[in-house]
Amino acid sequence: MIIKVELAKCCRMLNPGPTILVSSRKDENSNVMAAAWNTTIDFSPPKVAVVIAEGTYTRELVDQTGEFVVNIPTRQLAQATLDVGHISGRDVNKFERYKLETFPGEKVAAPLVKGCMGWLECRVIPEPHIQKTYDLFIAEVVAAWADDRCFEDGRWKLPPRELQSLHYIAGGNYLVGSEMVSFELPE
Ligand SMILES: Cc1cc2nc3c(=O)[nH]c(=O)nc-3n(C[C@H](O)[C@H](O)[C@H](O)COP(=O)(O)O)c2cc1C
Repeated sequence: MIIKVELAKCCRMLNPGPTILVSSRKDENSNVMAAAWNTTIDFSPPKVAVVIAEGTYTRELVDQTGEFVVNIPTRQLAQATLDVGHISGRDVNKFERYKLETFPGEKVAAPLVKGCMGWLECRVIPEPHIQKTYDLFIAEVVAAWADDRCFEDGRWKLPPRELQSLHYIAGGNYLVGSEMVSFELPE
């Protein structure tokens, strides 16, 4: 079941450093690309930073709309994540080619990709200098969702195998699979 994540807790969703899918939409044109370079940068209001390279179709759509969705893909989307990271939405409809199903978000027009473990709906905070110089987009998270098999009580739990997050290395390789080790929090 997909559950709404409290905005105060959603900044934790990128803590494990997953490779993400960035989806975008302008009018009838939707797109999706892979992005390994992403992080949370604040919790109130929650903000993330993602590198969206100049020249990508995603960059064009995000520049035009000021919105995107961070989708956190799982093991079952590992091949599709590589695929959408190696071809441009200018040349092909990637949702159709790679059979990616979507559902609508609440606050932004960009689609949410099914089969992910979590989703952050994002509105860009315009920072023209860093966007132009570093391709870095800072955005506020305006709605957040998670699969309840992976997220509970405001944090990730150990998910079933097929819903484990992807951590890209290079050359078609990811680190996937994890062990949860727990320690006592200092006072
Ligand atoms: C695993 C993986 C991670 C990637 N990470 C990033 C990233 O962080 N930032 C980026 O701009 N491109 C990244 N890319 C490349 C884009 O996904 C790629 O350029 C994509 O084809 C752009 O698609 P578009 O033109 O449809 O937007 C990555 C690709 C892969 C396969």
